[in-house]
Amino acid sequence: MSNSQFKTVTIAGGTGTLGYAIAEAFLNDGSYNVKVLRRKPENENEKAKLLVSKGAEIVYADYTQHDDLVKALKGTDVVVSALNFDPKGAGFYDSQAPLLAAAKDASVKRFIPSEFGGKLKPGAHLIIDDKIKLGQEVEKSGLEYTYIYVGLFQEYFGWFGFDIKNKKVTFFDDGSKVFPTTSLSDIGKYTVETLKLPEARNAHINVAGAHLTLNEYLELFEKATGSKWEVVVDKDVRHRFQNNIEPVPSFLDNFKAVIVQEGEIGKLDNDKFSFTPRPIAEVIEELVKQAS
Ligand SMILES: NC(=O)c1ccc[n+]([C@@H]2O[C@H](COP(=O)([O-])OP(=O)(O)OC[C@H]3O[C@@H](n4cnc5c(N)ncnc54)[C@H](OP(=O)(O)O)[C@@H]3O)[C@@H](O)[C@H]2O)c1
Repeated sequence: MSNSQFKTVTIAGGTGTLGYAIAEAFLNDGSYNVKVLRRKPENENEKAKLLVSKGAEIVYADYTQHDDLVKALKGTDVVVSALNFDPKGAGFYDSQAPLLAAAKDASVKRFIPSEFGGKLKPGAHLIIDDKIKLGQEVEKSGLEYTYIYVGLFQEYFGWFGFDIKNKKVTFFDDGSKVFPTTSLSDIGKYTVETLKLPEARNAHINVAGAHLTLNEYLELFEKATGSKWEVVVDKDVRHRFQNNIEPVPSFLDNFKAVIVQEGEIGKLDNDKFSFTPRPIAEVIEELVKQAS
């Protein structure tokens, strides 16, 4: 149970991969009114139905209508943005800026922007630059804020080149650099607990379920699958992408290379939290089971 000063939390994008885990963690905590903000028009959504069955309220708004968004956020103490960018449209700034403006006018107390990744520097990638631009606006807004950095979602090892079915991994560096990863359920729990952590007010919080090198993660995958994996090392992705050199990497592979090379999050704040994250070996065993 919480001793937080906040009562009502609205998770924007609570039907998404991350947002669902965060909404679930708030519902499990049991001490908040939990609202999930969805985009109009209203439509059927299995995750939304599940969250309602666990006690969440779904609210809808048209993000292009400021007054509509303000109305949807009235009475909310904390907005957690779990919005994504739209590969064909709005970037992280454009998707979240209307939410931030409405939060301010709805007298929301704290805004948690959609960070939840690595702590990349300006200029590292345009997707990240957009998050940084939004962050500058968050800090000017007068609302309290917390940035939460978690490294890679552990459920995204596959996306990141760990091909469990074919026992093959592709590294965009030599695999020797320490790289933070966190499970979605732990990200949810960390997010909930920031609300009662005085150090999280107007702060950057760095947490990780595991902090190993890619080679060490690979060893755990090899142990869980009981076999040696093929390793492909491609350290040249960013250079080829920038200079259009064959084979030209995809936009996404270039983004992954940026993340692995620059996605460190700095000193961890894990010890400020009351729980221990899931053991990484357990998460990897589960991923292997799911893939077989
Ligand atoms: N560290 C990592 O490994 C990692 C991996 C993936 C994502 N992330 C981060 O996690 C955050 C959320 O990503 P996600 O993959 O969980 O997102 P997602 O699954 O795509 O879900 C985002 C949700 O937000 C709503 N939404 C999507 N686009 C929107 C827009 N332009 N404007 C308003 N609402 C929109 C949608 O809900 P409704 O349709 O119900 O409104 C959607 O379900 C992002 O910051 C992303 O960078 C990190």
